[in-house]
Amino acid sequence: MITNTELEYKGNLYPNHIIDFKQDVDKFYFTTENEVVLQITVLRNSALRFRYATENVFEPDFSYAISEDASRGYSSLEVDETATEYLIRTSKLKVLIDKKSLRVQISDLEGSIINEDEIGFHWEENYEYGGNIVKMSKITQNGESFFGMGDKATHSNLKGKQVSNWCMDQYAYVKDLDPLYKAVPFFTGLHNNMAYGIFFDNTFRTYFDFAHEKRHVTSFWADGGEMNFYFFYGPEMSKVIKAYTNLTGTPELPPMWAMGYHQSKWSYFPESNVKALARKFRRLKIPCDALYLDIDYMDGFRCFTWDKKKFPDPKRMMAELNEVGFKTVVMIDPGIKIDKDYWVYQEAMEKGYFCKRGDGPYMKGKVWPGECHFPDFTNPEVREWWAELYKEFMSELGVHAVWNDMNEPAVMEVPTKTAPLDTRHNFDGHPCTHRKAHNVYGMQMVRATYEGIKKHVYPKRPFVITRAAYAGTQRYSSTWTGDNVATWEHLWLANVQVQRMCMSGMSFVGSDIGGFAEQPNGELFARWIQLGVFHPFCRVHSSGDHGDQEPWSFDSDVTDIVRKFIELRYQLLPYLYTMFWKYSKYGDPMVKPLVYFDQEDPQTHFRTDEFIFGDHILVCPVQEPNAQGRRMYIPRGNWYNYWDDSLVVGGKEQWVDADIDITPLFVLEGAIIPKFPVQQYVGELVIKQLDLDVYYKLGIENSTVYEDDQDGYDYNKGNYSLRNFKLNGKAQSLAIQQFKDGAFLTSYNSLRLNLHGLPFTIKSVEVDNEVVPLKQVKPNGNNVIVVSKDFTQVLIKGK
Ligand code: GLC
Repeated sequence: MITNTELEYKGNLYPNHIIDFKQDVDKFYFTTENEVVLQITVLRNSALRFRYATENVFEPDFSYAISEDASRGYSSLEVDETATEYLIRTSKLKVLIDKKSLRVQISDLEGSIINEDEIGFHWEENYEYGGNIVKMSKITQNGESFFGMGDKATHSNLKGKQVSNWCMDQYAYVKDLDPLYKAVPFFTGLHNNMAYGIFFDNTFRTYFDFAHEKRHVTSFWADGGEMNFYFFYGPEMSKVIKAYTNLTGTPELPPMWAMGYHQSKWSYFPESNVKALARKFRRLKIPCDALYLDIDYMDGFRCFTWDKKKFPDPKRMMAELNEVGFKTVVMIDPGIKIDKDYWVYQEAMEKGYFCKRGDGPYMKGKVWPGECHFPDFTNPEVREWWAELYKEFMSELGVHAVWNDMNEPAVMEVPTKTAPLDTRHNFDGHPCTHRKAHNVYGMQMVRATYEGIKKHVYPKRPFVITRAAYAGTQRYSSTWTGDNVATWEHLWLANVQVQRMCMSGMSFVGSDIGGFAEQPNGELFARWIQLGVFHPFCRVHSSGDHGDQEPWSFDSDVTDIVRKFIELRYQLLPYLYTMFWKYSKYGDPMVKPLVYFDQEDPQTHFRTDEFIFGDHILVCPVQEPNAQGRRMYIPRGNWYNYWDDSLVVGGKEQWVDADIDITPLFVLEGAIIPKFPVQQYVGELVIKQLDLDVYYKLGIENSTVYEDDQDGYDYNKGNYSLRNFKLNGKAQSLAIQQFKDGAFLTSYNSLRLNLHGLPFTIKSVEVDNEVVPLKQVKPNGNNVIVVSKDFTQVLIKGK
């Protein structure tokens, strides 16, 4: 008899030949003789799902990442078989499955290979924990580049790199340190002008190797779970990113104030300091919408409590702040202080909501309050309880928004910096250990927070921020790049990380402007603000122990520069809001790396600094001290320098002047950019006229302006205003057509068209086919025209 106490180490195992094939509508099953099953699901014409089972058994099909609103449906589907392979064909893709090896090759209908297996699926049995270490290897195509993967602090193009996903608290991280706070196992590959994406929906620790170990191999693997990935085809990168974002979801529109400028520090207290801060913003006329209270507002770092010495009457304080246009955002961490007299602790203990270790004791870890227990947010009942904990904060005290931090979860004084791996989780009815639940812990925490906030601020919209995230977290929350450092290198990193997050479905993101650890000098702070105002989430935050980091903490020149750029952000709010609407509705990344903007131009594949803000504005931050400008790549097309309207022809690298009070900024010709007047906070002014900056182009360009009530849900009932503009410029004329949709009545009645780059002097203006006296439409002379907001066509003719 064999008494097998020590299992035999078998090394890598591989599928062998296919012995069975079945089709069940849009699902195909290929079974090999050694009991590997490949299931291919056709989700859309260009989106497929691949799952591999060993020993003939699939896991229950459950995912935290996939959105309920993901689109499904394809137009055609055929299957064929030859002596050596099976062929699945959609209206966009051909998938070959090799009968001998189960290897897969995906090509377009012309037969150009998009992606193909090297070894393909293989696995190793995991003797310590059971299950498999699941692996996939693909051939790296000639000239292939790789993008995406969440918050990786490294060059945008991941070619030659190996990275992993395991949410980690990484105070003062450095370039190339990996992993960081987020786990987004999604990348886009680009070669031969064809882009595709792979989302490996596996919550265990995952690894990706982009031609690092072997020059011609791209592989990914996980410590457990299933080989379960989604494949998206472009050929445009935009289609890939949008398909991924559609699958994992987008957020609803946040309140517009969440897109304003926010000021934070660890920590502002007591009340008198917070009020003084608010007053100073208004006195210096630096726009600001939100102030943040970090952990010190709490009583001994107990979540959902207040330190009554520092904040004797939080309700009154928040109401007073609100009167002068400030929203208050408070921090809530996952660690609950072990304290028998603390109601949150008591409730969780009574209900059995804290995580337990493998053998039964509660999981303990040290965080700010000392020893803590941690709610199991992967339990739906715990999430409901957590959501209700916000009731008093939101509906009675008047807190506006919540910031979830340390939710990797971060645990202090242990080398792993997180919960022990044997910690048990409910995983929505699929019990497991922390190995599987770690990467979704923070996501499920912020999900519960979001549900609570949404309910308790109703009929207003919720706004939530999280540090940790797994793919799909964007449905619930905005995020920031964690504890960065006040260095020039970190300014570079903030730029790359935000672009990368936008390419990973998570657009509502920003960095701690100025750096969290250490202190920037005025120049670095000014340059960082010049970048930060072009990030979807715009907040200054710092650790507070290295000196102040308010807009006025440096010399008055810096204050003036900071004000100028924050004012620009407030002017651009309708543009930013439209960007968000496009992200929310169509999955468009709000910030676009140049490779996304023009993948056909190989010059863009390795650029890191330049990006497109929305659809039409090119930004390139200055990332060095003492600079009076910089070299940058202007992508193909004609661009207006924002500062002086000079026209540059793109497709080349060039020097751009940018003294300390300027950042390189260009507008694509043909664009129509909406602008508000400067306000000190969103909603301060009733907008009496919408400015449209119109940039002449010889040819056609489309622009959009989306507006609604800036908060609440009426836009879902049709109460929005959508203006689609078609600009058509000719040598001696400029026509702007407007196509309007939605029932929202804007507060203004007229549009002021500021015409940039007109190559002719205006001779006549026709509005809706009627010639209008120039005096009537050109109150300021020059190239400014005021028209009714409801026009359908403005035709400007030249002399
Ligand atoms: C973490 C956060 C940081 C916060 C600090 C104190 O380091 O990342 O933003 O200020 O904790 O709560």
